[in-house]
Amino acid sequence: MLDISGIRRLQFDVLIIGAGGAGLSAAISASQDKKIRVGLVCKSLLGKAHTVMAEGGMAAALGNVDNRDDWKIHFRDTMRGGKMLNNWKMAEIHAKDSPKRVRELEHWGAVFDRTRDGLINQRNFGGHRYPRLAHVGDRTGLEMIRTLQDHGIHQGIDIHMECTALDILKDKSGKVAGIVCMYRETGEFIIFETKSLIFATGGAGKSWEVTSNSWEYTGDGFGMAFEAGAELIDMEFNQFHPTGMVWPPSVKGILVTEGVRGEGGILKNNKGERFMFDYIPEKFANETADSVEEAARWLAGDKDARRPPELLTRDVVARAINAEVKAGRGSKHGGAYLDIATQRSSEDIKKKLPSMYHQFKILAELDITKQPMEVGPTCHYFMGGIKVDAETSMTTVDGLFACGEAAGGMHGANRLGGNSLSDLLVFGNLSGIQSAKYSNKLKSMPKADDDDIKRIIKNATSILNREKGNNPYLIHEDLQKNMQDNVGIIRTKKDIQDGINKIEEMKLQFQDVKAPGSSQFNPGWHEALALRNLLISSESVARSALLREESRGAHTREDFPSEEDEWLHYNIISKKGVNGEMQTIKVKRSEPDNELKRIANSSIEDLEKEVKIDHNKV
Ligand code: FUM
Repeated sequence: MLDISGIRRLQFDVLIIGAGGAGLSAAISASQDKKIRVGLVCKSLLGKAHTVMAEGGMAAALGNVDNRDDWKIHFRDTMRGGKMLNNWKMAEIHAKDSPKRVRELEHWGAVFDRTRDGLINQRNFGGHRYPRLAHVGDRTGLEMIRTLQDHGIHQGIDIHMECTALDILKDKSGKVAGIVCMYRETGEFIIFETKSLIFATGGAGKSWEVTSNSWEYTGDGFGMAFEAGAELIDMEFNQFHPTGMVWPPSVKGILVTEGVRGEGGILKNNKGERFMFDYIPEKFANETADSVEEAARWLAGDKDARRPPELLTRDVVARAINAEVKAGRGSKHGGAYLDIATQRSSEDIKKKLPSMYHQFKILAELDITKQPMEVGPTCHYFMGGIKVDAETSMTTVDGLFACGEAAGGMHGANRLGGNSLSDLLVFGNLSGIQSAKYSNKLKSMPKADDDDIKRIIKNATSILNREKGNNPYLIHEDLQKNMQDNVGIIRTKKDIQDGINKIEEMKLQFQDVKAPGSSQFNPGWHEALALRNLLISSESVARSALLREESRGAHTREDFPSEEDEWLHYNIISKKGVNGEMQTIKVKRSEPDNELKRIANSSIEDLEKEVKIDHNKV
């Protein structure tokens, strides 16, 4: 019988798993109540998070560059970008609270680019009506992490780095009681007892071959939440950012910020044609330039000109590049050409896009002030995730909260670029406050069952202890290929079903996975531990994609090519069935508040008039 008496235990009121923008924000806000003991666990080093891959900026209706902006217009853009499947309340909270959170970040030391008048500068991005992205060149996510870290380390938060979370503990009534973790360097297990847990664990971009995500993004939060009985929502919506590097192969998938297009970059095919003019969806026709001349007027600052088609939403641009490549009009290495060199001066490019300049110089030996870049779609973000209550961020498990990319719903079927960083600040802050409130209400620490602790540790160590078994790296490689080929940008029933069948085979292989070596820094063991979560995440994506028989936002079904009104009324939920199987079901959405519905469905002209009236009142 496993003896767990020697395993270290620590107690917290609020424990956060994940230390990207959402996790750090949550830890900071929870720690404002000085009676609350706050812990932060991250499996990498503090400061290393996918947050840095949101380079171009954070969206907030500050109205610094165009004072016609307002939360209502940001909200409308977000809903339209998400194809109206967003959680309405979350989108409202996000649009209203983002300006405050961005100013707070500035107050904590973020050094934003400035307008001539000394205000926080804002740039254009796809799907945003006005220049809305507060930015720091093309390193905004990095600046955000740096600022949150600098501020956070003075708030009395107990930080545990290079520590992998294995599974959630609950008490007899089903409330969160803690989590079992393991230090990656030493292999030492630790039990964190806590009244509430916040998952800020990001997405599962490592399920695909071509991805902007680094090794950490293995869906740990999705896997652990699912195992604990929480619901996953709309996992079929996976964002393929249109512009990842395609060459050289060693850097395929690394992000090329949308800021390049925000600063005027244009997309061309191998015939030199600016092909995005051929892909303007009807719904966006009256807001998009239909000629090169009009797009040029927009770039020159003509406020009456409509926006270039390169600034359509990511789902549209990614599909367009995909279609050009399929039609034989792709770039030399299978993407499209992204040209900023002919649109902006070399000085402007180096000032506004310094990281892109260096990234291409160093990784591809290419000077973007002189030559076009080669780009193609790369898996970037999960719109789906753990289902949460909009106003508290609590999941369907008592005491378990989720925020940031780990939480689903805010972005609907497609996220607008820049809405992620502001989401991390807004819902990180909210979940920190709400989890502290929840913990304060509990009179005592919920008690976990020792048998559960033993089971979790045994599951982890059996990967090391079995005589022989399957190689975790090979299973992961097969999974990535499977998701890329069968559950990628364009999907069909047959491909998805093949994908699910293969995932079922991999789940069987996983039961016998083996990592040779000891528990001390053993990357093979870590890979095997992450694999369970990758498999759960991928299965949920594939089963949800099969069920949603329509094309909406980032989910494109070749066999159901149009958006179906009926599907607008449903979310897809994955949860664990009584026998441990994954149940994926269609669930009716609740009706939105009438005022929010009115705002989202208003014409832009009417809304602009109304907002002007509101501003006049102020
Ligand atoms: O393209 C980018 O800079 C990414 C931003 C985002 O995902 O929000």
